[in-house]
Amino acid sequence: MAKFEVLGRCSPFWFVLLLCFAFMMGPGAQGWSKEGHIMTCRIAQGLLGSEALEAIQNLLPLNVNGDLSALCTWPDQIRHWHKYRWTSPLHFIDTPDDECTFNYQRDCHDPHGVEDMCVAGAVQNFTSQLVHYREGSADRRYNMTEALLFLSHFMGDIHQPMHVGFTSDEGGNTINLRWFRHKSNLHHVWDREIVLTALSDYYEKDMDLLQKDIEGNFTDLQGIWSSDVSSWEHCDDILSCVTKWAVESINIACKWGYKGVDPGTTLADDYFDSSMPIVMKRIAQGGVRLAMILNRVFGDTDEGFAIAT
Ligand SMILES: *[C@@H]1O[C@H](CO)[C@@H](O)[C@H](O)[C@H]1NC(C)=O
Ligand SMILES: *[C@@H]1O[C@H](CO)[C@@H](O)[C@H](O)[C@H]1NC(C)=O
Ligand SMILES: *[C@@H]1O[C@H](CO)[C@@H](O)[C@H](O)[C@H]1NC(C)=O
Repeated sequence: MAKFEVLGRCSPFWFVLLLCFAFMMGPGAQGWSKEGHIMTCRIAQGLLGSEALEAIQNLLPLNVNGDLSALCTWPDQIRHWHKYRWTSPLHFIDTPDDECTFNYQRDCHDPHGVEDMCVAGAVQNFTSQLVHYREGSADRRYNMTEALLFLSHFMGDIHQPMHVGFTSDEGGNTINLRWFRHKSNLHHVWDREIVLTALSDYYEKDMDLLQKDIEGNFTDLQGIWSSDVSSWEHCDDILSCVTKWAVESINIACKWGYKGVDPGTTLADDYFDSSMPIVMKRIAQGGVRLAMILNRVFGDTDEGFAIAT
């Protein structure tokens, strides 16, 4: 009896330890790292109407108490597990080197050429699964909790500019350089370094403060993005929306990410000052657009959008 109690008390500890390992072993260089994903999901959750809020509460496991952001990094943690290896190509898009364009037909496939297996296809896929679930016509093979988590994660990834990058350098992953004094690579700079430097330089390393500042910049009347939100949210059919978002990313990757960056270089203040506002805007856009999708999928409005089935 006593033994069971002890085990019972220990297991949360082991669970936490395992989670920590999952984080540490996880592919640090893929996806907004956890801060970017967490803020994207928190911003989105703050914009949900009551129906969407209730729907996600029903889909999320009880232990997260309705907090979507607690599981927004889950797709990064499981992508190398055997069962989920198919999800690995869904985090990004490889576009032709130096072209600075995205063409869905040409670029949205996995390395074997299987169509739709890229982040733009994934956002469509999981949106469509949730629409069918809402309409009661869901394919029972699909797990709707997973569909919600994948959608929420991939909406972050499609907004991370270097996730729509050049093929030969794997979206900047093979461009090794220094970020201030430590070693990094161009992909990781956009995934995480810029956010971490912003947090420590301006926000007392407090992610809540940073998130509030981002939100204020589109909710306050005088906020720098307040008049942009309605165009961010604009979406008639999901295929043209994911295409537009991926095009935005590759354009930013070319104009601000790759520009003037040679392997072995050191990126510091100048690069940080020009890239930080863009990273913050992409996190804001990812959050606003994730909320837009969830509100339309689960909301009571007629405002749907065309989805391919
Ligand atoms: C869509 O999701 C299903 C599982 O939920 C998966 O089998 C399929 O490969 C996915 N396709 C894309 C493009 O994400
Ligand atoms: C759906 O997926 C989640 C996360 O992988 C899992 O915990 C849950 O048991 C699954 N639900 C069903 C009905 O298979
Ligand atoms: C919010 O806008 C102000 C300018 O009004 C800017 O200084 C600040 O960096 C912005 N914050 C974020 C997180 O983008």
